[in-house]
Amino acid sequence: MAGLGVNIDHVATVRQARRTVEPDPAWAAAEAQLAGADCITFHLRQDRRHIIDRDVPLLRAVTQVKLNMEMSLTEEIVRIALEVKPDQATLVPENRQEITTEGGLDVVGQAQRMAEVAKRLTDAGIIVSAFIDPDERQVEAAVRAGCPAIELHTGRYANAETASQASEALEDLAGAVKAGLDQGLVVHGGHGLTYFNVGPVAGMSGFTEFNIGHSIISRSIFVGLRQAVREMKELIEKAEKA
Ligand code: PXP
Repeated sequence: MAGLGVNIDHVATVRQARRTVEPDPAWAAAEAQLAGADCITFHLRQDRRHIIDRDVPLLRAVTQVKLNMEMSLTEEIVRIALEVKPDQATLVPENRQEITTEGGLDVVGQAQRMAEVAKRLTDAGIIVSAFIDPDERQVEAAVRAGCPAIELHTGRYANAETASQASEALEDLAGAVKAGLDQGLVVHGGHGLTYFNVGPVAGMSGFTEFNIGHSIISRSIFVGLRQAVREMKELIEKAEKA
């Protein structure tokens, strides 16, 4: 079964709304693990809008499953990753104006910096994953940059307004999964996945991990984080078996 990476950024978003100490994303990491999360994901953004520096070593200390750090290619953040040593680094584009990560990383357009960062992280024992749109050119560029893994951006599928847009987006995802697997990559998926739309993506073969944040944290307000994580895991499992 594909693993579930629980992105706990939005626990920190609530904390930062008041610049106080609660809710603590480190507590969320513990709760998610107790519910069976396979991975804890966080994004240390340059603007520190949710996860802040203080969280990063704490998340490292309390995470016994895979710790996945989403990060830009900026030098400051690369140095923090090299110091904290998450198990996995997912390289993402970052734009200060955006509400959330909008598109995939343009690996083709910044091949040299990608290769340099991927090498430094790999040399430190960190698995490098590139968050890319389901586009075969980007898959090939990720391979050339030395990434052993990719995370395919599922946002276009998640935001589809019609059934035909959704099925086109699913076809592109399937093509990119195949391209990734053919090149020997480990393939993850994420962004915009919810309890209502995860089924068709989780039902596709080839994904090793899904990173899901906003929908799980939203549901946790009403049912608690453990139940929210368990329900998402169950949906992924059910889709895989269908
Ligand atoms: N994967 C990546 C690379 C992301 O940047 C994000 C958002 O932080 C997610 C997955 C999770 O997206 P969502 O919060 O929409 O589930």
